[in-house]
Amino acid sequence: MSKVRIGIVGTGGIARNRHIPSFQANPDVDLVAASDPVAASLAEVGNQFGIAGRYSDYEEMFAKEQLDGVVICTPNKFHAPAAISALNKGINVLCEKPMALDPVEGRAMIAAAKANHKILTVGFHYRHRTPVKAAKQIIDSGELGHVYMVRVNALRRRGIPSWGSFVHKHIQGGGAMIDFGVHTLDTALYLLGNPKPIEVSATLSQHLGTKPNVNPWGQWNYQEFTVEDQVAAFVRFENGASMLLECSWALNVPESKETISLSGTEAGLDVFPLKVNKAQHGMLTHWVPDWMEKENEEPGIGQAADFVNAIKNGGTPNVLAEQALQVTDIVDAIYRSAAAGHAITL
Ligand SMILES: NC(=O)c1ccc[n+]([C@@H]2O[C@H](COP(=O)([O-])OP(=O)(O)OC[C@H]3O[C@@H](n4cnc5c(N)ncnc54)[C@H](O)[C@@H]3O)[C@@H](O)[C@H]2O)c1
Repeated sequence: MSKVRIGIVGTGGIARNRHIPSFQANPDVDLVAASDPVAASLAEVGNQFGIAGRYSDYEEMFAKEQLDGVVICTPNKFHAPAAISALNKGINVLCEKPMALDPVEGRAMIAAAKANHKILTVGFHYRHRTPVKAAKQIIDSGELGHVYMVRVNALRRRGIPSWGSFVHKHIQGGGAMIDFGVHTLDTALYLLGNPKPIEVSATLSQHLGTKPNVNPWGQWNYQEFTVEDQVAAFVRFENGASMLLECSWALNVPESKETISLSGTEAGLDVFPLKVNKAQHGMLTHWVPDWMEKENEEPGIGQAADFVNAIKNGGTPNVLAEQALQVTDIVDAIYRSAAAGHAITL
């Protein structure tokens, strides 16, 4: 196969800062086209990155550019329609996270990928981070025994996106959880081996997002803030494991932190930074790696290589669409549980 022809759908922040540079750095890729209905954004990105094909409508790009793959970088509401349209035209899809607004859309995307025998993968780029790859290796070796508890914290003291449509529920599907918490949720599920979730109980809050406040990313649109700024959830899995999860965009805590801590029958493991703790020789001990593969400063590079490799060699991408759907199933159950005021059975 000659070079893989890639197109970009949506030329905003994540396209400019991650996907376009990462795909252009890949020697097996021709990044031939981009689409965005906002002419100024399209022109700016086209000129900055030297992209020849420019389309206001992604349908026209799909029809004209003979693409092997597209990267969907639109607000969440447009993920499913763009992905399904591309898949139905025989184009492989890397869709930004979250996969979709809800599980119905996610399942329709998977059905389109299956019907057309095309790749559908999702931008959970933490999978390409060195501590996550190392943690997966350690856990899969059996070092922790049966992992029965995982604690996930994705806490921003203040970090509400002030650009785009991130605070609009009808466009993004939610706030802190669907936007930010999904990365650590996906990582924790992956490290657990994606056991089936059977029950979700959650609360959410909207206390800080609806008023003006300090924010390192600038003042967000608090007048139109229709999403949650914090979530707490408890998830039970079919294999007996449990997850305690908390995430926030804004919360009165001493510091922002992202941590995933797993506890097994033989040992425990913290992912960021990587540390294994256990009891041995009559002592409580821990070990940390003295050397690890240097963390790629831009995980988009590994993510792009994974997608291109799957297209070129017919392989399986790192993030399976079914795994991304599990994240969407849990996020949806979190929102339903918080609204209903009781646990949701899956
Ligand atoms: N993986 C990550 O860590 C990460 C980080 C940031 C954003 N994201 C995801 O990337 C997506 C985009 O986020 P962003 O920060 O780039 O947002 P953004 O608002 O900066 O950019 C979105 C772009 O999509 C364009 N767009 C809207 N409708 C479109 C359509 N129908 N066809 C083509 N383009 C369209 C908009 O004009 C805009 O240029 C979101 O789903 C977000 O969750 C992921």
